[in-house]
Amino acid sequence: MQKPVRIAPSILAADFAKLGDEVRAIDEAGADFIHIDIMDGHFVPNISFGPAITKSVRGCTDKPFDCHLMISPVDPYIPEFVDAGADIITLHQEAGGHLHRSLQLVKSHGLKAGVSLNPATPASTLEHVMDDVDLILVMSVNPGFGGQKFIPSQLDKIRTLRDMIDATGRDIDLEVDGGITTETAPLVIEAGADMLVAGSAAFKDGPAHYADNIKALLGKA
Ligand code: DX5
Ligand code: ZN
Repeated sequence: MQKPVRIAPSILAADFAKLGDEVRAIDEAGADFIHIDIMDGHFVPNISFGPAITKSVRGCTDKPFDCHLMISPVDPYIPEFVDAGADIITLHQEAGGHLHRSLQLVKSHGLKAGVSLNPATPASTLEHVMDDVDLILVMSVNPGFGGQKFIPSQLDKIRTLRDMIDATGRDIDLEVDGGITTETAPLVIEAGADMLVAGSAAFKDGPAHYADNIKALLGKA
């Protein structure tokens, strides 16, 4: 069942020189989750930050940490993100290794386990792990960078995943990440998403605007 839409601002678009203040500001502005993009320069062509930076801002907010791991291999680093204070760990279907095992590893630490699909990866690849996931993250850009343009072909995938989730009767979040703006947010919500990641659109124009940015993305402006 599609839940009320929640917003997960990505701190990839924050001012890294004042990361703690940025996390506090986006929390106060109405973030439901803090989306943390971890990039390794190998699985994706960019390096962001890792568990130490994640842990350093854990004390700045009580909001759940939605950690999006764009790294390969992933299993050896899961304990470090658990220790850093992650609440959700989402890994990529394409990251290699054994998806089912990685999901169980995340769950064995008592966290929510998510799986993400790149734009070219079909929804059907998750058919046999639907009982093992707590969250599905549809990438609506190729992962690696903020500020890219939304790929419209992902709307069909969101619809397919909405049906797959509803067929399980399980509580699985359907999150969309990449190019979410006031124009694209209504489209992904209409297609069945109930969790939106927003980097540039959430952190636009500095802290005085964060609350309005979030309201606009949720259609509450
Ligand atoms: C991209 C990241 C996204 C990114 C979104 O690889 O996973 O979370 O921060 O940025 P925007 O909202 O600017 O597309
Ligand atoms: Zn992300």
